[in-house]
Amino acid sequence: MTILVTGGAGFIGSNFVYYQLKQHPEDRVVCLDKLTYAGNLATLEDAMKQKNFRFVKGDIADRARVFELFREEKFDIVVNFAAESHVDRSIEDPGIFLTTNILGTQVLMDACRAFGIGRYHQVSTDEVYGDLPLDRPDLFFTEETPIHTSSPYSASKASADLLVLAYHRTFKLPVTITRCSNNYGPYHFPEKLIPLIISRALNDETLPVYGKGENVRDWLYVEDHCSAIDLVIRKGRVGEIYNIGGHNERTNLQVVKTVLKELNKPESLITYVTDRPGHDQRYAIDPTKIHNELGWLPATKFDDGIRRTVEWYLANRPWWENILKGDYQHYYERMYAKR
Ligand code: NAD
Ligand code: DAU
Repeated sequence: MTILVTGGAGFIGSNFVYYQLKQHPEDRVVCLDKLTYAGNLATLEDAMKQKNFRFVKGDIADRARVFELFREEKFDIVVNFAAESHVDRSIEDPGIFLTTNILGTQVLMDACRAFGIGRYHQVSTDEVYGDLPLDRPDLFFTEETPIHTSSPYSASKASADLLVLAYHRTFKLPVTITRCSNNYGPYHFPEKLIPLIISRALNDETLPVYGKGENVRDWLYVEDHCSAIDLVIRKGRVGEIYNIGGHNERTNLQVVKTVLKELNKPESLITYVTDRPGHDQRYAIDPTKIHNELGWLPATKFDDGIRRTVEWYLANRPWWENILKGDYQHYYERMYAKR
């Protein structure tokens, strides 16, 4: 089989590339990635050494380029990770989120229709469900929870999901969708909470916590997300949505304190800053469907996953230090200076 992985030079996409190459060495993996600020070819260095891997630089919203690639490769499965993924950037400038996340998805599905495909898989997010109140720990997102988005990012991801379901119903495109909670692990870009905290704490810099740090996220080690998607693309039912999460809820403050303990750094580095506009309060996934239908369960406990993640950032300093040296400096200044 030949699998197209879009966005494979980013955080989850690259972890998925390595997961596929390891678990299914008989398959070929082609990665299409625009190499935006979040894409990093250094991440795919080891994959490039393998014969059954090909990297192609390109934009999923570039119809001519995408159609040319589909004509060349005759894909069996497409897994679409490519996206603008950071909520704060979507608040600063929503336009590119609509282009990549919605129109890019449409272009990929049009190519699937034109050239035929065994499966189109859309990597979505729990953020399409909006948020849950902090004082109702009994509530969880199921696949039936209505779409109710908060940020331009989540609105663009929800729009793409609706388009995917429309292509299934109208054109009989064989699609699946997964909606996962917050991931963490190796190759996570340091604009996101956990790698931002690790990289800044290692440099003894202040750690910006939005509001009071009481918002809750449901954390999943990235390899567990990869194993779930792998099951869904091979055994999941066409036309279905599967939630992915491991019942691992933590307040942001708990997460930051866990990381600091692992790094042996003082809590005095924590600084409370102005809250994110429209900040979702709590995410919490009910993963019953994927467990009952496909037998999926997460393998990594939060404390082990955080330890492995911290070890990875310690062992791979050049990977993130190179990022911090570039445009990231301006990004941090722009986003945090006046907070
Ligand atoms: P990321 O920002 O780390 O990586 C995105 C990748 O997509 C980058 O390599 C970038 O270069 C590429 N890309 C961006 N625009 C592109 C375009 N127009 N054409 C081709 N490539 C393009 O993102 P991530 O955190 O790895 O997220 C991957 C996917 O998973 C996204 O669809 C996101 O919505 C979803 N998701 C993320 C999380 C999470 O916690 N990070 C959780 C659930 C779902
Ligand atoms: O739930 C899945 C989503 O998780 C994905 O769809 C998104 O692509 C991914 O970026 C992530 O979104 P969040 O907004 O939850 O992740 P982020 O790491 O940006 O923030 C996590 C929490 O930490 C959130 O409540 C905001 C807070 N935060 C974040 C940053 C960057 C801080 O307090 N300080 C910060 O500096």
